[in-house]
Amino acid sequence: MTELANDRFLRALLREPVDRTPIWIMRQAGRYLPEYRATRARAGSFLDLCQNPELACEVTMQPLARFPLDAAILFSDILTVPDAMGLGLFFEAGEGPRFRDPVRSLADIERLPIPDPEQELRYVMDAVRLIRRELNGSVPLIGFAGSPWTLATYMIEGAGSRDFAETKRVLYGDPQAMHALLQKVSAAVSVYLQAQVRAGAQAVMIFDTWGGSLTPRHYREFSLAYMQRIIAELPREHEGRRVPVILFTKGGGAWLEWQADAGADALGLDWTIEIAEAAQRVGDRVALQGNLDPSVLYAGDDVVRAEARRVLDGFPHATGHVFNLGHGIHPGIEPERVATLVETVQSYRAG
Ligand code: CP3
Repeated sequence: MTELANDRFLRALLREPVDRTPIWIMRQAGRYLPEYRATRARAGSFLDLCQNPELACEVTMQPLARFPLDAAILFSDILTVPDAMGLGLFFEAGEGPRFRDPVRSLADIERLPIPDPEQELRYVMDAVRLIRRELNGSVPLIGFAGSPWTLATYMIEGAGSRDFAETKRVLYGDPQAMHALLQKVSAAVSVYLQAQVRAGAQAVMIFDTWGGSLTPRHYREFSLAYMQRIIAELPREHEGRRVPVILFTKGGGAWLEWQADAGADALGLDWTIEIAEAAQRVGDRVALQGNLDPSVLYAGDDVVRAEARRVLDGFPHATGHVFNLGHGIHPGIEPERVATLVETVQSYRAG
């Protein structure tokens, strides 16, 4: 068993006793930090940063040097997997991610390789190993991947999208092709997450950012079913400790009961649901992570404190809650607001 100086994040995910509610922040290493922007400039670009294990490790550690957070998250991106499948990821200045060769046909899908995580994605595994060494048992390291559905939307659209027109065209027009793609992507994500755990990730999170774009029936068939399979294939123990899984479907608040049965230890919540209601609906089946509206951090310290306490007040149990934002932190946030947030959560109550 690996010694951890601070394991309350892992304990809360497993609904074991904790002294207080743990906190980490989605995109905690990112553009709101001047030191992140400096390292990215040194790397050349965001992608260069992801592909350089030393620099990825450096930015992973940056928010922990500023704030006493209870977990670190691997610095990478969900789109490294489709990139390794040959789609050619690049970032257009100010326009978000793009793929040079989006998936256009069944023949394209059949040609997609399943990357070996220790070959094509070795830079990610090297970053995980390096970060673990650098953390030196201080806090746990979270690994992550995109959900097959979310990755498929980018792979078909070739970019971010508002309405997912091409993806929905395939879903309704040729559901078999959609399933063929999701099966391929699931196989790739599954081995990728398994490799992250072997490399040292102590918890893993699946980002289903676009699951909320689906109808309830299609959410189960085209997103949840594949995440469930990936979770079932993960090693549940490593280094003598359970490796908890967090499932986060943005916009998925209507389907928490289904998510609670998918085999995950915890569910991520966005800010569109009251955490008290979510806790009541999932009962003692899973822990919860969330769910402060990230835009609260644009307001003053008093509002940050009050809104953070509202979330904490809403969670009814002594353990089983990991405080987080309902989505990633915005680039325009002042780091001082984050300091206030972390301080508020950590001084709130003993478990
Ligand atoms: O949380 C963390 O600190 C870990 C790092 C992380 C990044 N992306 C870094 C990143 C994680 C977990 C992700 C996940 C991710 N990436 C998701 C799912 C979660 C979510 O936010 O919904 C998605 C959909 C992506 C794809 C992606 N990557 C987009 C749409 C963008 C551009 C949007 C933007 O914020 O500009 C990225 C780029 C990206 N990924 C950045 C960071 C820090 C910003 C890049 C930069 O430095 O300019």
